[in-house]
Amino acid sequence: MGECAVNPHDIAELMPGALNYAEFAGVGPGEQVLLAASTEADPLVVQAILAAVAAKGASPTVCYVPPTKGYFSEPPPPLAEAMAAADTILDVGAFVVGHTEACLRALFEYASKGIILCPPPTPAVLKSKGARFPAEVHHVISKLVFAQCQKPDGSLIHVTSAAGTDITAEVWRSKCGHGAAEMGVAAPGDFWVFPGGCFGFLPPRNVNGTAVFEAFTGYGRTSEPTVFTIRDSLIVDIQGGWEVAAIHQRIDGVKNGNWICEIMFGLNPANDVDMSVTPLSLQAERSPQTLHIGLGDGTLNVGPRRAQGHTRQWKVLHQDGFMLYPTLTVGGESVIERGRLAAIETEEVHRVAAKYGDPAEVLSYTPVRM
Ligand SMILES: [Fe+2]
Repeated sequence: MGECAVNPHDIAELMPGALNYAEFAGVGPGEQVLLAASTEADPLVVQAILAAVAAKGASPTVCYVPPTKGYFSEPPPPLAEAMAAADTILDVGAFVVGHTEACLRALFEYASKGIILCPPPTPAVLKSKGARFPAEVHHVISKLVFAQCQKPDGSLIHVTSAAGTDITAEVWRSKCGHGAAEMGVAAPGDFWVFPGGCFGFLPPRNVNGTAVFEAFTGYGRTSEPTVFTIRDSLIVDIQGGWEVAAIHQRIDGVKNGNWICEIMFGLNPANDVDMSVTPLSLQAERSPQTLHIGLGDGTLNVGPRRAQGHTRQWKVLHQDGFMLYPTLTVGGESVIERGRLAAIETEEVHRVAAKYGDPAEVLSYTPVRM
């Protein structure tokens, strides 16, 4: 017998998360699934996802690209074409699904759906409690939060946070959500992130007040709190550390670069919030312990405004500022109280969670790591 470097049990540990990924992505029999992977993606992660896709009766095609620096970069043309041809794109470290022109084209012109795996593409993400969170519990929570947030046009949104945020906004034409995958029916044109659990207003209207951010997706934890003054949905002043100049460099001279295109918060208590990594994982945006405000282009959200500038990158300009332990009310109803989602406290959610173990354990919050 020769030496065997592979532990035969490794794949079994990844399969519940991989199957959940394929399930949330709505992968079905006969679908053409493109797995867009980074060359640095763990081979076992790719293997587990391929197995999950095959188990759903779909045909996988794998394409590798070198890792990008930070988030999102345009794919080479052959990959861009493959994205348009696929029914479902599973992005495993490639960072092409999201804020890229190729993604907008694939989703909105060719009706593909794109679901990005939270980076980095290592076994840890598929093994995480967030990735194994039961889909049924997830969908019950989403349904309840949707019912709370889809209030009539003009209903008052109020956000405060532990660091001093105080902003008001209004529900815009009852529009809220984040892709049909959140509700269990990933559909053509959907952009989504796995593990999921993100919800909000896309966009809200009449945003006014002060937003205090402890972190930005791209910069990680900020050197000091970054403070936006927002008037009529436009950022009119930014205070803070070195990140202020970096944000200005990105948005100055770009029409709608300072526009608030989303107020979003997390739904999945199991998701990791690790403030010590840069860039922040998308998983951190998907815990109720955080709320983020996005500025820039609203196309990916099917929002009404596009950013406009002189270079290609402004077409997909988008930046998320993060706050910890938010409190959110919509139409006077409490949705989140200091990072705790009201829906999770309901009897309905506890009853469904009990099918998967001790509800207190299933629904427990993963502690924030600073
Ligand atoms: Fe965003």
